[in-house]
Amino acid sequence: MTTFDLRSTIAEALGRSRDRSTLLTDAVDDDDLVRQHSKLMSPLVWDLAHIGNQEELWLVRDVGGREPVRQDIDELYDAFQHPRAQRPALPLLNPGEARAYVREVRDKVFDVLDRTPLEGRELVDNGFAFGMIVQHEQQHDETMLATHQLRKGAPVLHAPNPPAAPAAPLPAEVFVPGGPFQMGTTIEPWALDNERPAHQVHVDSYWIDTTPVSNGRYLAFIDAGGYDDPRWWSERGWAYRNEANLVAPRFWQRDGDHWVRTRFGAVEPIPLDEPVVHVCYFEAEAYAAWAGKRLPTEPEWEKAARFDPATGRSRRYPWGDEDPTPEHANLGQRHLRPAPVGAYPAGESPLGVRQLIGDVWEWLASDFQPYPDFRAFPYKEYSEVFFGGDYRMLRGGSFGTDKAAVRGTFRNWDHPIRRQIFAGFRCARDHRQD
Ligand code: AVJ
Ligand code: FE
Repeated sequence: MTTFDLRSTIAEALGRSRDRSTLLTDAVDDDDLVRQHSKLMSPLVWDLAHIGNQEELWLVRDVGGREPVRQDIDELYDAFQHPRAQRPALPLLNPGEARAYVREVRDKVFDVLDRTPLEGRELVDNGFAFGMIVQHEQQHDETMLATHQLRKGAPVLHAPNPPAAPAAPLPAEVFVPGGPFQMGTTIEPWALDNERPAHQVHVDSYWIDTTPVSNGRYLAFIDAGGYDDPRWWSERGWAYRNEANLVAPRFWQRDGDHWVRTRFGAVEPIPLDEPVVHVCYFEAEAYAAWAGKRLPTEPEWEKAARFDPATGRSRRYPWGDEDPTPEHANLGQRHLRPAPVGAYPAGESPLGVRQLIGDVWEWLASDFQPYPDFRAFPYKEYSEVFFGGDYRMLRGGSFGTDKAAVRGTFRNWDHPIRRQIFAGFRCARDHRQD
């Protein structure tokens, strides 16, 4: 890529993330922006100013070497200083101040982008620091979308429905051949530290579900008494099921003899052919046990997503090396729900696995560990401080994830009890039994 192309790619990606942040924050009034909709989430106005503060720290001060815009607020927007539950009580910038702040920072960033050589310093090589800040804003845009999902009140976000699934039936499972596979990346320019470096892993043969588990299949687990049978749950999962009184995915509600769900403020019937979403790791694990299966490990998932058996090489995405288009995957909040299982045939992996990227994040059996020869870059607080903690891996992104913030190597993680994120799952097993 020429320097000119790289600068315009960065400018376009910065603009797209800001358009999304603006849409999500302009959709509600000022009272709503400063309110905490759930103890699990920040007020939207905190996310907005935090986006600007991270951008100021890395791009204005560090990359640009410029004077601080608002050094006095660094502490307020440091995620490690204040847990989410406490953020509404802080002397935060009000909505007008937050909007003016992010605008001022962005104006300076465009000037820095014009004047900074995008090589010769590791932080800016290939535009890395800009790419990191684009991903940071997009990650918070997905978090803000989750806040919208938790928000009470009439719908304020609207989007067209995703495409239907082709009518041709799909095999339920796909065979992934055992053998070596290259996991992670060294060359992807905007890959974050935890995706690096590329390294060889051995993955035993296994079978993986062709699609994520649907609401219809999940309902069969509910109807079979799955939530009331400790046989399917791990010890921790069963304890959490009892403590939180889990009976169905979050946002589902009984309506007479059937279930309905609330989605961004609208109550609707459960679409049986859509991937289940808003289940925690423990629910995914229990479903898999009930189905006679298990969750995939992280190397298994990445092999299913990237391995090309014809060449033995690992692709950037299931469909190849090209950046995602709307034909490949349900990403970018273009649709405010997952597409039916089996959709996006153009996004299929060489082995025939569908919807690995987009639709719903997929819970995996693995916890969060560094790859061999991991090096924290550019800061320990993105990944390193979370290694070995009580997290489970999530892969592939959701309908709420931007294309800049997910790829075949992208690693996400969360506590196994989390349900407000846009996460579902698919199952795996060592041997096909039927
Ligand atoms: C990688 C999605 C777990 O949202 O907590 C945002 C990303 N890190 N700001 C999160 C992140 C700092 C992070 N996840
Ligand atoms: Fe952040």
